[in-house]
Amino acid sequence: MNETLQLENICTSNLTRRAGLDTGPVPAEPYRSREYFEYEREQIFKRAWLALGRVERLPEPGSFFTTTIEIWNAPIVVTRDRDNRIQAFYNVCPHRGNQVVLSGSGNAFRFACNYHNWTFRNSGELLGVPDQGNFFDLDKKACGLVPISTEVWEGWIFINHQKTPEVSLETFLGEFGKRFSGVKWVNAEKSILLEAHLNANWKVLADAFSETYHIPSIHPATIGTTFANAINPHSRPLDARFWGSHRQFSTFGNPAYSPPEDAKVEKMVYAGVETGNVLAAAEMQAVTEYLAHPAINEKRSDYWALDIAVAFPGLHINLSPGGFWSHRFWPISVNRTRWEAEFHVAEARTPRERLQQELFVARLGEILLEDVTNTERTQIGIESRAYDTMQLQDGEVQIRHNLHTVDKWVRAVTVKEAIA
Ligand code: FES
Ligand SMILES: [Fe+2]
Repeated sequence: MNETLQLENICTSNLTRRAGLDTGPVPAEPYRSREYFEYEREQIFKRAWLALGRVERLPEPGSFFTTTIEIWNAPIVVTRDRDNRIQAFYNVCPHRGNQVVLSGSGNAFRFACNYHNWTFRNSGELLGVPDQGNFFDLDKKACGLVPISTEVWEGWIFINHQKTPEVSLETFLGEFGKRFSGVKWVNAEKSILLEAHLNANWKVLADAFSETYHIPSIHPATIGTTFANAINPHSRPLDARFWGSHRQFSTFGNPAYSPPEDAKVEKMVYAGVETGNVLAAAEMQAVTEYLAHPAINEKRSDYWALDIAVAFPGLHINLSPGGFWSHRFWPISVNRTRWEAEFHVAEARTPRERLQQELFVARLGEILLEDVTNTERTQIGIESRAYDTMQLQDGEVQIRHNLHTVDKWVRAVTVKEAIA
């Protein structure tokens, strides 16, 4: 069999046409137009369910974390109360608007605003007001922390800017939600959370993690031979599937990968260990239950590297042989984005496992730097207006689907219409 034929047996071709998308150049304007960004803010980010991360960020009653949703201009606090209810609130004091919770995370059943010491329960109610008698008919019941629509799907916390969301999280996720229900989120309780602010549109960032076409050129030394081989030198994807706004992308892995001769640390810490590929911080045996889920490596391909499950607009979950990690993209302005990447690793049981994890984290740092250093340059290029379009190949189908989905939301009058 010649190599082209062999590749066609491994990788599904014509992903773009199969998805019902056109194949022409795509517009650059959505990446640089301030006006378009304002439409995205109102029509997408203030109507869609947005993922904050895993419930394990709130391990027990009293746990909380704070963050800022820049595109809403809103500081928020997310809590787990005595009844184990997870709820996000505006982190805004009803007295004169100060932020009530100042630390990034912790455990507390009460919060005190440090300005005039008004106190609140972690379930939002206003508890105490110093010198209350000097106020005028203060309605304490109406002065709690303002709740934000919050729902949890399979351990992922989502929030919605709409006070009464047009559709439930379940309806919003649709087939995607059903497909990934029941995944055993292995090692979810332990994570390494990276955060960076980059001078690039949120879609430039998301695009950087949406195709493998760049792998042989950007990552030749780190993962070039992991995600490509002689049959598939340009790392064509195995497959892609789309459900309304959401999608899944299966990437190619080189089953014959072995560490290069000079990779002495990698050779030592992974000797005799089946990891599936080197983007793993665990042995495959340790995560067999998770890998058995039918949505993960659906075709049980020997050439599988990892799946990318994308819950539009900002959550990418990478399901890899050693476990999972996620990217979350938070737009700040048309050309600035906060990027969160959260990696889940097991508690190391032996010095060797600890070394595997250290190597995993060090390699990831290197790979991610290779990925994001391009994004700021790309943004400058797009903003130069030298070109009004971009050329996308079939392996870049996720980028095209994302642009198509963004535009659909921007134009849709209702959320129901946007997710159809
Ligand atoms: S602003 Fe919070 S107590 Fe005054
Ligand atoms: Fe990459």
